[in-house]
Amino acid sequence: MAKHKAVIAILANAGGVGKTTLAVHLAYELGRRNFSVGLIDLDPQRALDVFCGLPSAAAEFSIAQVLSKDFRGNWPFVSAWENSKVEVCQGHPIMSKIADDLVIRRRGEYTLADRMKNYPLSHDVVILDCPATLGMICENAIAASTGLLVPIQLEMKSVSGAADLVQWAIAIADELDLEPRPPILGLVPSLYDHTRAIHRQYLQQLPEVASQLRIKLYPQIRDSSEFKNASANGLPLQKYRPAHPACKDFVTIANDLVKLVKEGKI
Ligand SMILES: Nc1ncnc2c1ncn2[C@@H]1O[C@H](COP(=O)(O)OP(=O)(O)OP(=O)(O)O)[C@@H](O)[C@H]1O
Ligand SMILES: [Mg+2]
Repeated sequence: MAKHKAVIAILANAGGVGKTTLAVHLAYELGRRNFSVGLIDLDPQRALDVFCGLPSAAAEFSIAQVLSKDFRGNWPFVSAWENSKVEVCQGHPIMSKIADDLVIRRRGEYTLADRMKNYPLSHDVVILDCPATLGMICENAIAASTGLLVPIQLEMKSVSGAADLVQWAIAIADELDLEPRPPILGLVPSLYDHTRAIHRQYLQQLPEVASQLRIKLYPQIRDSSEFKNASANGLPLQKYRPAHPACKDFVTIANDLVKLVKEGKI
């Protein structure tokens, strides 16, 4: 069982690259390995509600409450799926307004980190599902995290965008003077369609890109319409279609995280 708490932020500088899909499936995979997982929806669009089949939460039962000034430690986690060790702290549209408030609040960038320090969570691993827009919420995620994962789509702008994101995240960690700096644990190619020549071509180039950035490259997550079907049913693919080959696409990352957590490295 885990000795240290890992807080993994899932960040990308574009919408729709598979952040929430990675967050959900990784959470489930870690839960299956007997880790208790807290999944936090930092996106005002509250995508986790759909992926977990949850009714929308009122602001006072969402992450918005946690970041509000009068939070006293009653984290509003709810169970994600039947018989799983994953719990969700739901998102709320008011988060976009809270992001504006944080800009002028003292220690605004550290609010989530402060909450986790002052009111510790019991989960072994916490996963932060970040919004697509880089800003105060993502800065909070970086400040609270012990490691970052960066999904990357196999399109031209995403490949260059991933390099920009990595530089941005490093700059934020420097500016916030985080001690220790959360490492970027890896790039995760997502929505990979092997029938598309351009995807195969970019996938071939990624090891070079990753090594220039000195970041690990994880195996790709394949494009499969079953991901959409699973989330439309409020389930991870591992629960919706346990025998589907894409379920295995999360195994390497989960193995790595388990090892890093057990070694106390994240
Ligand atoms: N590997 C995949 N195969 C097929 N569809 C996928 C895959 N990954 C994600 N999708 C679908 O693509 C859409 C965007 O994915 P997801 O919500 O995970 O991305 P995101 O980066 O979190 O987006 P946002 O920026 O809106 O938060 C969703 O409809 C999702 O079901
Ligand atoms: Mg998302």
